[in-house]
Parts: sequence; C-alpha cells; structure tokens
Amino acid sequence: MCGIVGYCGPQSAVTPLIQALRRLEYRGYDSAGIALGVRGKLFVEKRAGKLANLENALDIELPVVHSGIGHTRWATHGGPTDRNAHPHVDNDGKLAVIHNGIIENYSQLRLTMQERGHTFSSDTDTESVAYLLSDLRKEHNGDLVVAMREAVKILRGSFTLVAIHADNPDVIVGVRRNSPLVVGLGEGENFLASDVAAFINHTKRAIELGQDEVVMITPTTVEITDLDGAVIAPREYEISWDASAAQKGGFAHFMLKEIFEQPKAVADTLIGRLSDNKQIVLDELSMSVQEIRALKKITVIACGTAYHAGMIAKYAIEKWSKIPVDVEIASEFRYRDPIITPETLVIAISQSGETMDTLMAVRHAKAAGARVLTICNTHSSTIPRESDAVLYTHAGPEIAVASTKALLTQMIAVYLIALHLAQVNGALTDEQIEGLYIELLALPGKIEMILETVEPLRALTRSFADKNTVLFLGRNIGYPVALEGALKLKELAYIHAEGFAGGELKHGPIALIEEGTPVIAILPVADEHALDQKMLSNIQEVKARGACVIVIAQDGVHVEGAQHIIRIPVVSALLQPVLATVPLQVFAYEMALARGNDVDQPRNLAKSVTVE
Ligand code: G6P
Repeated sequence: MCGIVGYCGPQSAVTPLIQALRRLEYRGYDSAGIALGVRGKLFVEKRAGKLANLENALDIELPVVHSGIGHTRWATHGGPTDRNAHPHVDNDGKLAVIHNGIIENYSQLRLTMQERGHTFSSDTDTESVAYLLSDLRKEHNGDLVVAMREAVKILRGSFTLVAIHADNPDVIVGVRRNSPLVVGLGEGENFLASDVAAFINHTKRAIELGQDEVVMITPTTVEITDLDGAVIAPREYEISWDASAAQKGGFAHFMLKEIFEQPKAVADTLIGRLSDNKQIVLDELSMSVQEIRALKKITVIACGTAYHAGMIAKYAIEKWSKIPVDVEIASEFRYRDPIITPETLVIAISQSGETMDTLMAVRHAKAAGARVLTICNTHSSTIPRESDAVLYTHAGPEIAVASTKALLTQMIAVYLIALHLAQVNGALTDEQIEGLYIELLALPGKIEMILETVEPLRALTRSFADKNTVLFLGRNIGYPVALEGALKLKELAYIHAEGFAGGELKHGPIALIEEGTPVIAILPVADEHALDQKMLSNIQEVKARGACVIVIAQDGVHVEGAQHIIRIPVVSALLQPVLATVPLQVFAYEMALARGNDVDQPRNLAKSVTVE
C-alpha cells in the first residue's frame, strides 16, 4: 500500500526523500512523487511506474531546500497515471498533500470543492483533500495544523495524510486514522513515514501516533495534538532492528534473503518462551489458568498467508489442547454475525499489524466482548495496540511482498499457544509437551538442512517455467501448506495455481489434470488413519491422468509414483508445515525468476493492505 514520507532537516530534502521512497518500495506501488518545500511555490514532480521514472524526471537542476514530502502510490481511486500520482496540490500550487487509505465521502467532497471553484485534474479521492485543506488553512489564518484538525473532522474513511505549505515550508503536518504513520526523531532533523523502514538509516528513535492525532514536525520539534488541540505527550520507542536488516545483504532479492533468514527467525521466536524445565512460557497471553480453562472456543482471523497460519492453528490447537477452533478470513468475519461470547478467545494473525480487514475484524470481536490475542511481527502497529494481548514474532523486517519468514514464525507462535493451552488444561502430558518442546528447538537446524540442498529444486523448478497450471495437494495439516504453495505461486509467477485437500481431488479438481500438469503433493506423516497411503493413492490417480508429480516427503519414507521427490527432515506430523513450506517458497521464487517477474514487488500486490 502507499508509502508516505515527510522530511525536514539540514539535508537537501530530495536525497532523504528518494532514499525513503526506495525503502518503502516493498509496500507495493505503481507511481511515485515528491513535493519540495520551496518557499512561495512548491516544486512538485510525480510519475507513473517505478521510482526510476520519477528519478529520471528529477535528473535536472533541483531547488536545494530542506523539507519535503514523498509518496509511493498503490492505486485505488483512479488508475496509476502521472496525474493521479501524489502529491496533490491546491490550485495555487502552494499546498501539497499525500495520502494513504480511502476517503469514503470523497464524492460529496468533490462536488463541494467544485462548487467552491476548485478545478480537478485527477480521478483520485485525495485531490479533494488538497482543496479542503487549502480552504481551511485560509479560514484559519494560515495555520496548517488547525486546518488539518478541521479537515479530519469532515473526512470519513481511513487515511494517513501528510501536508506541506509553501508559505511555511519548514513545517510538515500529518494525521492518521486507521492507517499507519510514525515519527522518526533525528539529530536536527525529523521524519514522518508510513513505517520505520523509511528512516531507519537515519535514526532508531521513533514516536507512535494514535488515532486522530495530528503531528507537526520542524527540524527540531515535534508536537502532537488531538482534534481539540490538546497536547499529547509523545510515546517514544527504540526501533529494535537496524538498517542492515532492511537491505539485501548480498542476496539477489529480499525474498531469497528472507527465505534464508528463516532458521534465525524461528529460533528468535522461540527465545524466552521455552523454560529450562521444558515448559512453554507465554506470559504475553495475560490469561489466568482459570480464564484458559473456561475457554469454550477460539476463533482465528487473518488474511492472505497469515490465514494459512490460522488454519494450522486449528489443527494444532484442537489436537493438542482440545479447544474447538474456527478459522475465518478476516474480511468475511464481521459481516457474518459470528457467535462470540466472553469465553471466546479471538486470535488475530498479521505480519504488519496494519491490515485493514484484520483490524476491522478485531474491533468487531472486541465490541462483541471477546478477548483478542494478536500474533504480530511489527512493534507498535495498530492491531497489537488495539488487542488485549500480543505475541510478537521475531522475524525481523519482512520486505519482500510475498511473505515467507513471517509465516514460519506465525506457525511457531501458533504451536506455542497450542502447547501452552494444552499445558494449562492438562490435555497433554508433561512427557508429550517435553517431546514437542525438543522438536521445536530442533526446527531451525532442520530448516537449515533444507536450505543447504535447494539447488536441485531450483533447477527442477526452471524446467516447469512454461507451465500455466500447477496444482498442490495436501491432507490434514498439509492442506494449508498446499494452499500456501499455490498462493505463493500465484503471487510471484502469475500462473494458475490451486491447492486442494487430497480427498477432494476426485470431487472436481481432477478434471484439471492434463498431460504434463505439474502436481505437487505434500506427503503426510504415516498415522493411524493411513493418511500417507491415501495421499499415495491420490498421486497414482493424477499420474494415471498424465500429471507430472513432485512429492515433498520426509527423509527415508518410501514414495511410489512420483517423477520427482523433494526430501525434508523427519519431524512429527503437526510440525511438518514448518519444513514442507520451505521448498514451496523456493519453487515460487525460482518460477518468478524464470518467468522474468519482479520477485520482491509482484504486480498489483501490496505488502500490507490498509484499505478494506
Ligand atoms: C497482503 C500481503 C500478503 C499478506 C497479507 C496479510 O496481501 O501481500 O503477503 O499475507 O497481506 O498481511 P498481514 O500483514 O496482515 O499478515
């Protein structure tokens, strides 16, 4: 989603602004622009397409000024064109505004602004805000902060807005409602940005902003007020990762780097949560033994890849702790009148902590009286702030749009919760918990083993580069893995990919098989239901109809009928997704490369979707 940055300080503003936009690229965008704080009349340049287009347009003698705002736009209202790109300026060319989110009452606002004589030149909802702010500023003696406050009282929807005015260009004003905005506190310079990645190379000191808080920065001051003008004390925090974490570190792509960071991400997420006496320690849940024992139901809400972690939660929590679990796509949850009681625990899963659908579902759950626990990777983001408890995953910044290490750490968080619940309600014995505890600790090493042997898989993947359909089969906890394999491939390779539960195959999907269709099957661990044998039968069924079958199987397990076998280390059934997912990530990555696609910023996608 859109990336926002504002800068004021000693540097020539264009440099930190472009650097910040580069660091925000990962959020996903299709145009970019800047406004430089030239006194009297702002300098504005904006271009459709990649940041390089904007940089080419800026390859002229630029005004050397010390403030400005910059934006990467992910189109919602109006296509990705030069004129729809942000910043949007008022008709005097003096006020510029950038925006992330959606102004829901923009049609009415546009009419009002047209009636007042403003001439529109874009199809965006944002342009109306430029005129609204401009008018309000004039009404309030040139005070941009007051204008912003008054504008927010009129606007509906979700938005981060950041504005600058040519009469007082050393001041930048921002506000947020249901959309992210943070302050970066530098030495003699300050930043406003959608996320800390924008300024992490300048400072690790940040201030979080609450709902409807208006912030004004100058090079040396930061002032935060509410909509009535009351001053709010800054909530400062230290960013726990450094600039190198958001760089490629010698890898060709962020995604590849993040795939290879998974052993560390998983190990970091386990730190402090396994006690010396082999118990699971999750003080973060903030639930008493009585409250856990009283739980009647757990509902998991999430979107995209995080939803697949939610599905894994269902298998793990029900099996280990015997508490019933529903898993729901966050965007469906609140429109369905879900049954929630005080004995319901809602678990939200979100890498970014900013996904609008998940945030709205959390609010709905809270309003209905549920306790909300969030699994999140982003410190101080909105969803954790609005939840009753947070379990942070420690994956570090995830820059590639397609989620990899965040998912694996979400799985770990889910297992920890499931085991903790089982420990408290006595559904597993101490020996069983100890066995799983030992297995969890061994996972980073096992992921490492897979990563050491991915080269043959990369070569194999390239041989499928011309295929237009790939199907994924899983059973039991391998089913969400199949769904995730298909999602990754769609996101990155732009080909038709679907995941199915193996048992469903004969109820329809088998009709999709043609001569040579690649089918990737995740072989379940042998169990009392002979699920492995059932999957082997599925493999025979698709092979008999011409499929080229690739099986992901544990070391030492006999596999019949597959053209290719990808081996993963031995692990118990419910933990297998942590390992089985990794080759599927590599498959999608390599397929995207082979097809010449942009791996880190796939078309049309955004890293965190901050609109409904
Ligand atoms: C977007 C991203 C996905 C991600 C989903 C949920 O669609 O492209 O990779 O899984 O949002 O994001 P969240 O930050 O809530 O986990």
